[in-house]
Amino acid sequence: MTNITRRQFGKVAATTSALAGVSLPEFSLAQSKPENRQFPPGFAWGCATAAYQIEGGVHEGGRGTSNWDIFSHTPGKIANDDTGDVADDSYHLYKEDVRLLKDLGAGAYRMSIAWPRIFPNGKGQPNQAGLDYYKRVLDELLANNIAPYVTLFHWDLPAALAGGWQSRATALAFADYAGYVARQLSDRVRYFMTTNEFSSFTDLGYKTGLLAPGLKLSPAEVNQARHHGILAHGLGVEAIRANAPAAEVGVAENATVGVPVIEDHANMDAARRATREENAPFLTALLEGAYTESYLQGPNAPHVEPGDMKAIGSPLDFVGLNVYTSAYVRADGSERGYAIEPYPASFPRMASPWIYLAPECVYWAVRNVCEIWNPKAVYITENGCSAADVVTAEGRIEDTDRVMYLRNHLTHLERATSEGFPVKGYFLWSLLDNFEWIDGYSKRFGIYHVDFKTQRRIPKLSAEWYRAVIARNAVV
Ligand code: NOJ
Repeated sequence: MTNITRRQFGKVAATTSALAGVSLPEFSLAQSKPENRQFPPGFAWGCATAAYQIEGGVHEGGRGTSNWDIFSHTPGKIANDDTGDVADDSYHLYKEDVRLLKDLGAGAYRMSIAWPRIFPNGKGQPNQAGLDYYKRVLDELLANNIAPYVTLFHWDLPAALAGGWQSRATALAFADYAGYVARQLSDRVRYFMTTNEFSSFTDLGYKTGLLAPGLKLSPAEVNQARHHGILAHGLGVEAIRANAPAAEVGVAENATVGVPVIEDHANMDAARRATREENAPFLTALLEGAYTESYLQGPNAPHVEPGDMKAIGSPLDFVGLNVYTSAYVRADGSERGYAIEPYPASFPRMASPWIYLAPECVYWAVRNVCEIWNPKAVYITENGCSAADVVTAEGRIEDTDRVMYLRNHLTHLERATSEGFPVKGYFLWSLLDNFEWIDGYSKRFGIYHVDFKTQRRIPKLSAEWYRAVIARNAVV
């Protein structure tokens, strides 16, 4: 009974003292002190962003065109027909953005490299100006003692790569690009992530058509695009290792997280089964080096060439998990052993309707992944939420809803670290309000508010709160 209030305490103490032989309830007021929700020493605290969402400067430094330039300029695809042409102008303002990280006390920063800045045509001749830009950003981070964690593909695919992820050649081109960047930048970067969120850039791009390139293909074609996505990862891991032997290599994946409806053995087992099955095309294939039998059943299985699965299953130094919400799972006695509960209409959500407020997801993401696959290390590579921020007359943004969301998720993450799961760090999405894909600038995820007319950055309450978390290495 740890959550007892002082008033309740008085009542209970009065009642129990009147009853000889009844002991006081067990609790300690000290348990609510932040020191008791401490993260392990050396825990990496950071923020995450992605190139197309913050950089702007799309025509500068020899950058080639990406699929997202084309998609965002297609009328009707993005809220308010917004584009990433300017975004946060971080292409020019990166020093200021590093200062914002520094002000938080962050020791880590997850950023992505725009493939079309490095290879404007996706392959062939590299672009020195693009590489130099990232060297400047990385040098600025290092000068401020902030460790860069670099994602190589966060959805901005060079448009020159014919067929995009429908083509196996894109996976091969990615490996060349990954190897080149690792060779050029591993003097500055220790942590590399190959790709970000397979299901987002394959399923949402090629199945539902919601994201670039906006296609609605058949199940067999979708499975093939998925296969090329994870093949790119696998070949990318091999290329990074060949070019940067000291690098730590991982992936950032939005795995579906099974949360047991009740924490008993049957439902916890069902949640593990769900986590393995629901991620069969992606994380399960990476961490097992094989597709599950059930995924390969039927006429729509992907075409797999000899050697593909070995590359896809390349051992990783860490697994990065982008976690925003849960899938509640119960044991149902069926052959597959689980059912996913639909969300009731009254389930609370954050400002983006897909973010159901289910903070246990962070704990179960870590625990399921560790219990099923036993990775060396885990990072939360993204966690955060949009909020309907309002700038007050005094210029303040009191985003108590975002703080509530984050605090609850960190509380559950601390449960995972205190139970000994090897979580090494946490990246809050996002440092800044930015281009939120099809929602354009209408959904704000930053802990720094951005005025997109002036590019002025203002810390929100959540930035102040996160600074205290980092300073105390604890949930506050
Ligand atoms: C997932 C993506 O990696 C990131 O780009 C996006 O902005 C956030 N989640 C929020 O939707």
